[in-house]
Amino acid sequence: MELSKLFFDLIDVKRDIYQNADLFQQRRRDPNEYEQEFLRNSDYQAVDKLADFIKDISSDVDNWERQNSKFLNYHKSLNPHTFFNSIPIDHYIGLKTGLAQIQNKVVLDVGGGTGHFLSSFFRYPHSLQYFLIDPNVRLLHDQFVRMYPSLLEIPIGHIRSYAEDLPFRNNIADLIISSSAIDHYKDYKLFINEAFRVLKPNGKLLISSHLKGAKSGATKKKFSVRAIIEKGLRLLHRLKNGVAIDDHVQEFESTAPIIEKLKAKGFTIEQDEKFKQYFYILARK
Ligand SMILES: C[S@@+](CC[C@H](N)C(=O)[O-])C[C@H]1O[C@@H](n2cnc3c(N)ncnc32)[C@H](O)[C@@H]1O
Repeated sequence: MELSKLFFDLIDVKRDIYQNADLFQQRRRDPNEYEQEFLRNSDYQAVDKLADFIKDISSDVDNWERQNSKFLNYHKSLNPHTFFNSIPIDHYIGLKTGLAQIQNKVVLDVGGGTGHFLSSFFRYPHSLQYFLIDPNVRLLHDQFVRMYPSLLEIPIGHIRSYAEDLPFRNNIADLIISSSAIDHYKDYKLFINEAFRVLKPNGKLLISSHLKGAKSGATKKKFSVRAIIEKGLRLLHRLKNGVAIDDHVQEFESTAPIIEKLKAKGFTIEQDEKFKQYFYILARK
């Protein structure tokens, strides 16, 4: 569909906060274009330009599959609250690490979900070669598209695979990102091994997420009827969509186990900050 037509159709449509999102496919590069330079092999299926490396449809449902199916309920019901609340966290990390400003780099977003980071985190998205890697094929919600139309304009490599087995050649990436995703992987240590292999020498790995049990930085709001109604509506929305309280495979109470693994693999830790109930670690190969 022409992009102008897409936005034309959105004009004057009164979007409710809790209505289900309209979903839009990312603008995907043809895998033939980047396969030679970046991929380890051509053992993938290309459907709608998605390079799909996942073949094993296992019959025994393990913990990852159970948590992942809960997560997909959450994804369905993602609403503008989630969006507006998480964006300042990403802006903070982008500014503190300086990564928001990078240009002309190869970036892998592992567990990248919808791929909104391309435009919500980076200030020069057009200059990046961005790859979205995720075992779930997640489309862009209309709130992202309204806010960051460049998400539908900039071509990306969209790859279906696991963090634990990245289908990339050695030494090809300048930056690997894992945002709110390390606690969803099956095995974060295998991901760190893979990130080391795929990064160029001096390439960087950014891992960020929340800390289990850490104090929220929110200041208490004054009592208001509006806030109570809003809270009730949010709760109803979550119940209606079957959103689980916890859809993580493993939550971290501290960054120590991640840092220990990064160092053991040979990474140098450049930054390690805990803030409010979140953290980020910036490591260099
Ligand atoms: C909470 S979302 C974060 C999405 C995005 N990075 C963001 O910050 O908005 C976690 C993502 O991890 C993905 N995921 C789950 N298991 C994974 C695995 N083994 N390897 C890579 N990604 C995985 C999920 O599909 C989901 O898109």
